[in-house]
Amino acid sequence: MKRLKVNGFTFMITMHLQCAVTEKTVPISPLVDQFSRTISYLRLSLTDRCNLRCIYCMPEEDQDRNSEVKTGRFLQHSELLTYEELVRVVRLTVSQGMNKLRLTGGEPLVRKGILEFIHQLSELDGLSEIRLTTNGVLLAEYAETLYARGVRHINVSLDTLSRSKFVKITGKDYFTKVWDGLLAAKSLGFRIKLNVVAMKGVNDDEFQDFARLALDHPFQVRFIEFMPVGDKSSWQMEKFISAEEIKLLVTELGSLAPFARNHGEGPARMYNFQGKDGRNGAVGFISPISHHFCDKCNRLRLTSEGKLRACLLSDRETDLKFLLRNGATDRELIESIRQTILNKPQGHTLQQDVMARERQTCSGRMSRIGG
Ligand code: 5AD
Ligand code: SF4
Repeated sequence: MKRLKVNGFTFMITMHLQCAVTEKTVPISPLVDQFSRTISYLRLSLTDRCNLRCIYCMPEEDQDRNSEVKTGRFLQHSELLTYEELVRVVRLTVSQGMNKLRLTGGEPLVRKGILEFIHQLSELDGLSEIRLTTNGVLLAEYAETLYARGVRHINVSLDTLSRSKFVKITGKDYFTKVWDGLLAAKSLGFRIKLNVVAMKGVNDDEFQDFARLALDHPFQVRFIEFMPVGDKSSWQMEKFISAEEIKLLVTELGSLAPFARNHGEGPARMYNFQGKDGRNGAVGFISPISHHFCDKCNRLRLTSEGKLRACLLSDRETDLKFLLRNGATDRELIESIRQTILNKPQGHTLQQDVMARERQTCSGRMSRIGG
């Protein structure tokens, strides 16, 4: 839909675009929900498996920390959407105006064939970016090929800079692998964001080290408030620390000036962090609890089980896998995607839930939803 202003009146004009699905010229209206949010960003969880076992991510019973990816209550391969099905969904959403894609997991790089899949995605018309969220364990190995396949932006989850604490948080002694991956990605020229889940009593003694890291390296360091996601989350009020508290710790080391315009930074409130020695870096805060950003949310998620989820924190889902495997036409799929978007909840109630000391906000698992 295009806005046209004539004599002070605004007219909404539906554009006629070539539809990749039908090969005919059909009207395409943007993917807009009932609260006028345009949905342009799709997050695909490729697998619920992971080579780490972060304390905040998986239910304890899945945290068989001695296993690699094979045991635990993970989805069977047949329960995941195939790459063919995923490409179809991406093609259809892109044909309707979705232009950004993020691949998540679990850990997306543990899914076999991901590089070929990314190659197929990169050939789709209309997709401006493919981004990746990874724990970095396999990054050193994959960075070069990912770059060659057109990926330029990666988010790396890293909650500590200490090798021994890394083992405590993730269950694996892979800190060095992640660090090597970050350096490899940096030297190739990737734009890198570090996601740090802030947990009081776990990594709050390192927030200032993370801020210094933003001065030493071209990494955007983003602190994320710990959320109670999933029915067996290890979340506790005692572990919660707000973005404002973290900000205070960071400003002991220098000044924070808000970015003039948050461009492509998603839900993070980004700041230029200037250290006392005059060096600059980028530090951000993602505060789903203390300062929610639902009114600007442009996201749609496809879980590793093939369910479309319009809100991270709402269990309302559309079973796209069922439709895909029962002969749905492209038009029917598009209709179902549009309906899911239309019904996107207005927002979440995390703050109230947390105040009521509710441990759980939704029953979905982070490792299946993809963050
Ligand atoms: N609270 C906050 N952030 C979380 N993530 C995973 N689980 C939680 C949680 N309970 C983060 C991961 C990853 C991002 C997609 O979400 O660190 O980087
Ligand atoms: Fe793996 Fe990410 Fe979950 Fe950690 S947070 S266990 S890295 S999926």
